[in-house]
Amino acid sequence: MYIIGGTASKTVAEDLSKSLKAPIAETISKRFPDNEFYFRIVDDVKDEHVIIVQTTYPDNNIIELFIIQNAVEEAKAKEISIVIPYFGYARQDTKFKDGEPISAKAMANLISLNADRVITVDPHKEHILDFFSTSAHSCTAVPELAKYLKNKKIDMILAPDKGALNRAKEAAKIMKCDFDYMEKTRIDGETIEIKPKNLDAVDKNVAIIDDIISTGGTMAKSIVELKKYGAKNVYVACTHGLFAGEAVKKLTTAGCTEIISTDTIVGQFSKVKVASCLKSFFI
Ligand code: R5P
Repeated sequence: MYIIGGTASKTVAEDLSKSLKAPIAETISKRFPDNEFYFRIVDDVKDEHVIIVQTTYPDNNIIELFIIQNAVEEAKAKEISIVIPYFGYARQDTKFKDGEPISAKAMANLISLNADRVITVDPHKEHILDFFSTSAHSCTAVPELAKYLKNKKIDMILAPDKGALNRAKEAAKIMKCDFDYMEKTRIDGETIEIKPKNLDAVDKNVAIIDDIISTGGTMAKSIVELKKYGAKNVYVACTHGLFAGEAVKKLTTAGCTEIISTDTIVGQFSKVKVASCLKSFFI
């Protein structure tokens, strides 16, 4: 078994390599002067099981994945597993308006071409796994996020909307604390409304958990509401920290105590690792 990590997912690839005791294949990669991607596998992976690890965000990393998949296929690997820590485009999982694509399906179709198995972490909705024509599975980083939050003396864990309630429930079970949800209405990609709700948050340490922080709008509004209810500290935790535009500023301005994300997208808030939830698929 060999592991190949694309540039978006080196840490996850290295962690998987250590825990599975499988080497990282020697490869050469670079960008041509026009920014096109070049890739070459130096090790002989013929008849081997090769695990490619690559987050499909931002767009450059999608092309990288396709090129790596093709290199592995051309090298005649016996089995190709694709680990996608963050599956980009998953939120366009249906046609919300006539004339739109189902972007998650388009991505899944292309990835399936050179893959025997796909594994991703906390997809926005589980049904996107059905878009793959190869076997597709998911795992969750919630237990790892909950373990991190356990040290913060959290009194209550909150989902920013009802759709994320199961995540909060799962984390609360591990953290042995209360859980609840906020009532969110999305107006458009940039605007959301968090409806006031009866929450007993006075002097409490609250953590809000979600799959994604993108513009930070959902979390920032939730923090403001919680502060109105008298919350002492508000932590925000997510699996996929996109932190688009002014997201971090929005969260700090809203009064966030700490921002926590995982290494599905590597950044300054990647405090939790996801390799442990992925390794069980390979042992
Ligand atoms: C939506 O259903 C997701 O679970 C997240 O709540 C959402 O993607 C977060 O986006 P933003 O940070 O832009 O509010």
